[in-house]
Parts: sequence; structure tokens; C-alpha cells
Amino acid sequence: MKVVIDTSENIARLAAQQYKELLADKPDAVLGLATGSTPLGLYAVLSNMCKAGEISFAKAHSFNLDEYIGLDGNHDQSYRYFMNENLFRNIDINISETHVPDGISSNQQNAADYDKLIEEAGGIDLQLLGIGVNGHIGFNEPGTPFGSLTHIVELTDSTRQANKRFFQSIDEVPTHAISMGIKSVMHARSVILMAIGENKAQCIKDTLEGPVTEQVPASVLQLHPDVTFYLDHDAAKLLTK
Ligand code: F6R
Repeated sequence: MKVVIDTSENIARLAAQQYKELLADKPDAVLGLATGSTPLGLYAVLSNMCKAGEISFAKAHSFNLDEYIGLDGNHDQSYRYFMNENLFRNIDINISETHVPDGISSNQQNAADYDKLIEEAGGIDLQLLGIGVNGHIGFNEPGTPFGSLTHIVELTDSTRQANKRFFQSIDEVPTHAISMGIKSVMHARSVILMAIGENKAQCIKDTLEGPVTEQVPASVLQLHPDVTFYLDHDAAKLLTK
């Protein structure tokens, strides 16, 4: 495991560098993408680099981690909408090569079709992750089996509370989501996990220094052969090793 600790601005720049190198080497790379507050700085850097002609996504493919059940892509809190606004419309990616799980037609029976789609595209080269305060990755909440593929999840109160800042009230926060599973994430050839802020300090300590346990989903990354953690000073402040 590689751990990079710097300011939030610098970790965005350093992570963007990893995308630049990957796409220079493999222009048709398959990118696993995430939503949330954490990747916004990275997406801004990638957008600027693309405008400056320093990076191109023209041949790349992308697969997002998750989507709320019940929201279609035009809903301003859907993850499809988030991706279009914060990244896709600012870069030269072919929008038909961007994939976000479907919040309307997905169900427990067809959810794992998403993994087949990823496999058909050649598998994910670089998976980007944020982390929930309870250690979740994607919407894989504590207790999710490490063997899980893309599936429908019931969101915990902690996650719904954390995400309610984007909705008018807690009642509007969806109760379910579709999420790539832990096994789907572990299949990626390389993984980046970014964390910013003091409220992530405990889950980062548990993830990096605690036991590998389904109670802390991100701790499974200790078993991944190529993972880089990009942490700001606040998120890293409880690390001792
Ligand atoms: C988003 C996702 C989530 C977030 C996590 C952290 O696609 O999969 O696991 O990465 O909830 O969210 P932020 O970055 O808003 O703190």
C-alpha cells in the first residue's frame, strides 16, 4: 500500500498525475469513478488538464461505483447528474462510453449484469474510491460480504444522515442504492482511495492499521496488490505507523 499525505489541493494534483500517466500509456483505459465531495478537487484538476490539452479521455471508458435507487439521471441529486456536471461535460470523454448504474431499472436480479459489462470492457484499470465515516466504499456498508458483486443495498442511517446535506430533508434521501460490490472493486488492477477532513481520520486509521474485517469495508484494500491512499493531513492525523 502506498500512502500519500499532503494538502487537499496537492493530493488532487498528485492523483490527477496518476490518471495522466495511465491514459498516456493506455488511452482506452477503463476508469472506475466515484461521486461525493472528496473527488471534486481531482475532477476540477482533470477538467483543467483536459482543457489545456495535457490529458485526453477521448478513448477512455468509465464505470461509476453507485447510484441511488429511485432517481433517474436527470434528478439533480442522481450520481449520473453529478458526473455529467462535475466531470463529463468538462472533458473530452465520449458520453456513450460513460456508465453509471441505472437507478430506475436496476433490481436485485439484474444488478450483477453491471459486473459483466465491466468485464466485457476489459475490467477496470484504475478504480477511484472515497470512504464513508463508517468505512464504507461505494455503498458497501459495514457487514457487506467481501465476495459481493454489484447489488442493491439498504442505506444505513449514518450514510443517509451524511448525505442529507444535498437534499431538502432526510425524508427525500433515498433508502436504497445500487453499488458495485467489494469483489467488483478488488478486481480493479489499481485502486486510488482519497480522504479529506478530520471526520475521516478514524475510518482511515481503521482501514490502514486495523484488522481486515467486513465491519470496516475499506480494510479489504490491505489485500489489494496496487492501492494508493491520498490523504489530507486531517484525514491522516490518527495514523501512527
Ligand atoms: C460515492 C461513494 C461513496 C463516497 C463516500 C464518501 O460514489 O461511493 O462511498 O465515496 O460516501 O463521500 P464524500 O466524498 O462525500 O465524503
